[in-house]
Amino acid sequence: MAFHTSTAEGPIDFINAFDLEQMAQKVIPKGAFGYIASGAGDTFTLHENIRSFNHKLIVPHTLRDVENPSTETIFNGDTLSSPLIMAPVAAHKLANVQGEIASAKGVHEFGSLYTTSSYSSTDLPEITETLQGTPHWFQFYFSKDDGINRHIMDHVKEQGIKAIVLTADATVGGNRETDARNGFVFPVGMPIVQEYLPDGAGKTMDFVYKSAKQKLSPKDVEFIAQYSGLPVYVKGPQSKEDVDIALSAGASGIWVTNHGGRQLDGGPAAFDSLQEVAEAVDKRVPIVFDSGIRRGQHVFKALASGADLVALGRPAIYGLALGGSIGVRQAFEKINDELKMVMQLAGTQTIEDVKNVTLRHNPYDPSVQYDVNELRLY
Ligand code: FNR
Ligand code: LAC
Repeated sequence: MAFHTSTAEGPIDFINAFDLEQMAQKVIPKGAFGYIASGAGDTFTLHENIRSFNHKLIVPHTLRDVENPSTETIFNGDTLSSPLIMAPVAAHKLANVQGEIASAKGVHEFGSLYTTSSYSSTDLPEITETLQGTPHWFQFYFSKDDGINRHIMDHVKEQGIKAIVLTADATVGGNRETDARNGFVFPVGMPIVQEYLPDGAGKTMDFVYKSAKQKLSPKDVEFIAQYSGLPVYVKGPQSKEDVDIALSAGASGIWVTNHGGRQLDGGPAAFDSLQEVAEAVDKRVPIVFDSGIRRGQHVFKALASGADLVALGRPAIYGLALGGSIGVRQAFEKINDELKMVMQLAGTQTIEDVKNVTLRHNPYDPSVQYDVNELRLY
């Protein structure tokens, strides 16, 4: 059966990134929207991801001689317009028929860095071409079959990709009850990995996870680094022990995440793990952070807690659904404009200044929920 999703391309009218989710629900088919928006189990971790940013506070600063703060970020020799980058997200064609091409164009125009998922619905060369030199990373779902792994890495090396991100927190699929209720089966192809799927295997998430290697170990990090010759970022460590394991195996970076609350429900909010990870890393390698970023203040708090780059998942995909490449760029710009405002009010001129900020512990009752939607009284 043909899959019909959004064909939007044009500016979106919205006030903040939370609006995008409600607006996107109207243009993405139910099963696909459920897959994108929902999380694992009770969605406890999904919700804590956003709430946890309130565990620390930004102290405003006055008389700091700041004007027009800059989010420009130099990362491994590349000048990015912002530390806000694109997280790897499977199958962008679920959100918009233009898929990854529109997302890559939006990120290129925003001027930061794009991560292609192994389960992308567009093949790598087309994404590389669209990016026109914008830094490009590849997220790797490592297979049980080393022949497949070598073939994918050969493909990746031809594309001038700057780093491989090894996803280590999804060796089995999370408990996605929304997908089970909706009977969700991938309605779009995944060309990077699909050529290896046995005939008739279908494209269910269940199959996809079964083809992934469960027994991931430090040896796999060593193998990827050695075979590809590229820096390897491990996506998933949330503790000192896991940082030590990854760095001893030769990881060139740590990506702090809980997969947007889609994997282990009942685990900590990613932001609550960031400080421990940053202390363990001790500036030896870069740290990327994602999970729950919806606001400029969230980006600020992640940078002040040790992140070098901060990745956006769902808000970018909702921007894609609602406005194609323009919507993707707007989602990034909205959060980045908020970040600039926060930087001004916090007395920080540059991203380096933000990274040197000490956040204050929150003395208020953390069980009180502040829901921006409830504040819409007028
Ligand atoms: C993801 N994420 C993900 N991660 C990964 O390593 N490989 C992948 O293929 C995917 N696919 C994927 C699909 C969808 C629909 C979502 C929403 C997420 C996780 C992603 O990289 C990131 O960790 C989260 O999206 C961050 O949380 P927020 O910002 O979306 O809340
Ligand atoms: C997900 C996978 C593809 O989160 O990473 O759905």
